[in-house]
Amino acid sequence: MSSRDQFTSKIGFILAAAGSAIGLGAIWKFPYMAGTNGGSVFILLFVLCTILIGLPILIAEFMIGRRGQKDPITSFKEQAPGKPWFMIGWIGLVACGLILSFYSVVGGWILSYIVRATTFSLTGQGNDFGALFTDIISNPMEVLFAQACFMILTLVIVQAGIKNGIESASKWMMPILFIFFILLFIRSITLEGAFEGVKFMFIPDWSYLNGETLILALGQAFFSLSIGVAAMITYASYLSRKEKIVTSAINVATLNIAISLLAGLVIFPAVFALGFSPTEGPGLVFIMIPAVFEQLPFGSFLLLVFFILLLFATVTSSIALLEVVVSIGIREKTAQRKKASSLLAAIIFIVGIPSALSFGILSDVSIFDRSIFDFVDYVTSAILMPIGALLTSIFAGYHYSKKISREEIQASPILYNVWLFIVRYLAPISIVAIFINKVFFS
Ligand code: PHE
Repeated sequence: MSSRDQFTSKIGFILAAAGSAIGLGAIWKFPYMAGTNGGSVFILLFVLCTILIGLPILIAEFMIGRRGQKDPITSFKEQAPGKPWFMIGWIGLVACGLILSFYSVVGGWILSYIVRATTFSLTGQGNDFGALFTDIISNPMEVLFAQACFMILTLVIVQAGIKNGIESASKWMMPILFIFFILLFIRSITLEGAFEGVKFMFIPDWSYLNGETLILALGQAFFSLSIGVAAMITYASYLSRKEKIVTSAINVATLNIAISLLAGLVIFPAVFALGFSPTEGPGLVFIMIPAVFEQLPFGSFLLLVFFILLLFATVTSSIALLEVVVSIGIREKTAQRKKASSLLAAIIFIVGIPSALSFGILSDVSIFDRSIFDFVDYVTSAILMPIGALLTSIFAGYHYSKKISREEIQASPILYNVWLFIVRYLAPISIVAIFINKVFFS
């Protein structure tokens, strides 16, 4: 984005913001996190965190970004001169860079699946989908090559600029992906024994209610809404003053919950019906999706199309991540944008190498009992994002005068007051309480 372009239409912004939000978070991470954390309770907490904490902070980020109309650091510096709020921008840079470092690993897996799917070798009787996944992710050359290809793809799109890159494509790709999910859901839910999966998702097993589940659900809500890392602030800085930010934020949050639940409803019924395990971890979706497609006519072909659409959903998020890193990294020096983005992408690729290898040759390395991949994910989703979100919420709640935030948000008085109460009290207190609970009590 070399000049301060604005989104040409309201729907363009919603789609781009939704496209950046909806990606691997909802489709890949949500099912596996729910699967390893007992299903229902995690899902319930995730939905609550999204609506009660995430959505109001998303509105806050839209407000801050649109008011600033600049990159997050300059924008915080201008809106709060001499104060340290611009640090939120730096947290965003680090967090988005780290997220992209493992996001590109998973993006690489998708590329590997696409290449295999073109020869229709992913489905077929007697295929061991678990073994196939392990084969792919444990091959160092393949994962690194695929990760590099994914980064290059992301970089090329970011360098091409905002309008042609993001807006035009999200308009039709995302709805098709949605239709695919409905189709998969119908197949999955009609398998024999599928209902166990629905129970797993919706009948609470309270034994999973603990500090760890809570912080993971909060992190998942933030991760999938892309908040706490200045990403939505960056996107909204291109938003014109005419748009209603509350409606946009509600749309993004609703879509996000819907896609997450839908992904769960595709995966879990099939997990139980076909005799897999919900605690598979990061491979869950990669193992289950081919397994469901195998149960469909023209499964191999549809699988290929599905992975291409999934790649698209992933890329709309990865470009947001790189975009944030670049726009914070170079700020006003737009002339160096091309060089700087290449350099930053290269650094992020290198930072991601240990994560990529952590399923293969580095699988024995663990940091605080987590694999490298998991550790980077945990640090960003469960630590950096909540900290960023906490600060953003306090900034929006206390730094802005009520007059200004009321004007910006353009909501009914009741809605505005609910929002203000949340960003001033409920969100900050809950985030701190969840941290304290995790650190001291679990
Ligand atoms: N929300 C994105 C997803 O769910 C990930 C993301 C996080 C994108 C932060 C941008 C910023 O896939």
